[in-house]
Amino acid sequence: SHPSLQTLQLGTSDADIEQALAIWRRGGRVAIPTETVYGLAADASNAEAVNGIFAAKQRPANHPLIVHIGSGAQLRQWASEVPAMAQQLADAFWPGPLTLLLPKAESVPLEVTGGLPTVGIRVPSHPLLSKLLQAFGGGVAAPSANLYKSLSPTSAAQVLAGMDGRIEAVMDGGPCEWGLESTIVDVSGPQVRILRAGPITQAQIEQVLGQPVQMPQQHTAVVPGNVKAHYQPRTPLRLVTAEAQPQDDIGVLAHDGQWLQQFASQPQRLLPADAVGYGRELYAALHEMDQHGCRELWLLTPPQQPDWLAIHDRLKRATAQ
Ligand code: TXA
Ligand code: MG
Repeated sequence: SHPSLQTLQLGTSDADIEQALAIWRRGGRVAIPTETVYGLAADASNAEAVNGIFAAKQRPANHPLIVHIGSGAQLRQWASEVPAMAQQLADAFWPGPLTLLLPKAESVPLEVTGGLPTVGIRVPSHPLLSKLLQAFGGGVAAPSANLYKSLSPTSAAQVLAGMDGRIEAVMDGGPCEWGLESTIVDVSGPQVRILRAGPITQAQIEQVLGQPVQMPQQHTAVVPGNVKAHYQPRTPLRLVTAEAQPQDDIGVLAHDGQWLQQFASQPQRLLPADAVGYGRELYAALHEMDQHGCRELWLLTPPQQPDWLAIHDRLKRATAQ
């Protein structure tokens, strides 16, 4: 599909909400704000509508999508079984940035799950999206609202930069609260496993369950869609240590303002020194630095503490060849 649509820019008024709902009801795509990143959403019960998401993103059809629902009470419409530990996690973290993988209900189109017997489900907390989902009544399938393999958008402007003319509408709900994709937990089997690090940490999950859970060092390629090179800016990105010497035609990002001073003549961006603040701004900063057209972007390696894990996971993908 080539860019040929007139992409509507919607705000938060009741009339705009009605327009977004009408587009979903007729099988169209609306990019929506969530508390993690912007999603590209369509009616999850409509296989044609779901195919339209893959076309707009140019994403391979075997990559599973996450279903977003308005409340945990709807969980049983999408999952054929809800084990006790899944319910505990839903009760503790929904609405919020946690996706649960569960055995799919028969009615869930295989287009949504990329042919898998499990489905990813979450109840997002963004107030505008909550309102939309309550009014819609159903679920929407939504991957991040970017072209395949590029950076996830954390603002409506970043959605338009990649998707203008490829989708029916985008709703502007302001910048995203977390700025990193949801934590994904597989609760479909006997062993609870974290598949993607995110805003909800391993420690928080273990505390709720009262037992250790498995956490791969890195979001490993066990499913289609979980690929090594991902979340990438167009400009090649390199992680560097504090000893790196300035070079020509590079852009620099760091959480350390003093370190940045030696690059005074280069495009640069200071990031917050705490993991939550850093996560919130990382994608937007990479989007912004990408505009300078430098030869390379250098990013000072962030701290290695556990709460920086989701950031290191994304950076490994963003720098993969
Ligand atoms: O925060 C988020 O999760 C955002 C917002 C929009 O909700 N969504 C998001 O979607 O990051 P996406 O499509 O970019 O990433 C979803 C990933 C897939 O690539 C895959 O790794 C995993 O979720 N996933 C989804 N369903 C799965 C399934 N049934 N089995 C295994 N992995 C699954
Ligand atoms: Mg994505």
